[in-house]
Amino acid sequence: MADELVIEALGSRGDGVTQTESGPVYVPFTLPFERVRANVQGERGELLELLEVSEERREPLCRHFGECGGCSLQHLNATAYLEWKREQVVQAFQSRGLNVPVGPVIPAQAGTRRRAVLTARRTRKEVLLGFSRRLTHQIVDMQECPVLQARIVKVLPELRDMLRVLLTRKGEARVTILDTGNGLDVCIDGAREVSSPDLLMQLSDFSARLDLARLTVNGEVHATRHSPVLEFGSVAAVPAPGAFVQATSEAEEVLIGKVMAACESASHIADLFSGSGTFTLPLAQHAEVLAVEMDEEALGTIDHAVRQAQGLKPVRTLRRDLFREPLSATELEQFDAVVFDPPRAGGRDQAEELAHSSVRRVVAVSCNPATLARDVRSLIDGGYRLIDVTPVDQFLYSEHIEVVALLER
Ligand SMILES: C[S@@+](CC[C@H](N)C(=O)[O-])C[C@H]1O[C@@H](n2cnc3c(N)ncnc32)[C@H](O)[C@@H]1O
Repeated sequence: MADELVIEALGSRGDGVTQTESGPVYVPFTLPFERVRANVQGERGELLELLEVSEERREPLCRHFGECGGCSLQHLNATAYLEWKREQVVQAFQSRGLNVPVGPVIPAQAGTRRRAVLTARRTRKEVLLGFSRRLTHQIVDMQECPVLQARIVKVLPELRDMLRVLLTRKGEARVTILDTGNGLDVCIDGAREVSSPDLLMQLSDFSARLDLARLTVNGEVHATRHSPVLEFGSVAAVPAPGAFVQATSEAEEVLIGKVMAACESASHIADLFSGSGTFTLPLAQHAEVLAVEMDEEALGTIDHAVRQAQGLKPVRTLRRDLFREPLSATELEQFDAVVFDPPRAGGRDQAEELAHSSVRRVVAVSCNPATLARDVRSLIDGGYRLIDVTPVDQFLYSEHIEVVALLER
């Protein structure tokens, strides 16, 4: 049976939420103060009809909105959207007892996302390629996307043709596409074995037709037509196939700017969870840097970039699992600044070591305000002061937000 509900707020995943006698009900694609008819099952409500519409509602940009799991907030106007994202950060800090000033969100523009991880599946008739439908494994076959760079969306039809020969029937692959300065870097995992000369020839043809920078299938590089090079600051680096890089180059520039400004007077810096050197390489233009990371290939990217670059200060790389074995407070004594950019889970134990260290400045970068607030709480309890918190949007229309926080002691 359909219920009539009045939405009270947006929950942390961007769904409208209202409190009922039996607890909260989340109704995706609704907005605060809207009166709706919804089919409610447990905590989930499926929107059937909008009875009263919020003034903050606007027309979504994309035909897939509502189906595709990539976006949850295209229907919210720009001002309310940015304020909601900022509020997520404010609330995350408040939940740790921290009433800190949070700056305005630095917005993302449409069509700027340079990295996408899509799923592909071959059915009897076709190849589906796109993001998954929310909370399911169904693929929404992407025909358009206002978030991704146009260069990525443009190649999807031909990429489907290539996947048709690479996927087994009902087979599923993960397709990572990165737009580099030199063309697209495409990395396909989960394809059939590529050994026959015929298949190799077809891959080479596809690479040429799509003018791909590099094509990697099941971990093996099959064609490098152009070096898939990125510039971190002004230092060139070639990330490994499928490697993590920040989602937009615009957000990356803002993050690098914040990190560089915070570390301006430092001469010895540790870049923890360094990835392929997004911060290490620009920082090395002015200071000695130790890059610490678990992924060997990412550290290889840094080492290679350092060997090719001119005029950098010494850079050391250290492979270490910072969850199991964080850099100790004693090891940290040699640094006057630390950059800390863990995955979504945060870096609790590393933050606790930092809290006991004498490092003067810490720049914490995170795509998860909840774990960032937890880790910042440890640092504050250890004597740091929070100087600045800036949310940076690089996940347009989704519920996610990047944050950079500067702390000092
Ligand atoms: C959010 S990314 C940041 C990378 C880099 N700072 C950048 O901006 O491109 C997090 C990084 O942490 C690394 N990582 C994940 N778990 C780790 C662990 N337990 N120990 C060390 N590094 C880890 C990942 O390989 C990834 O490179």
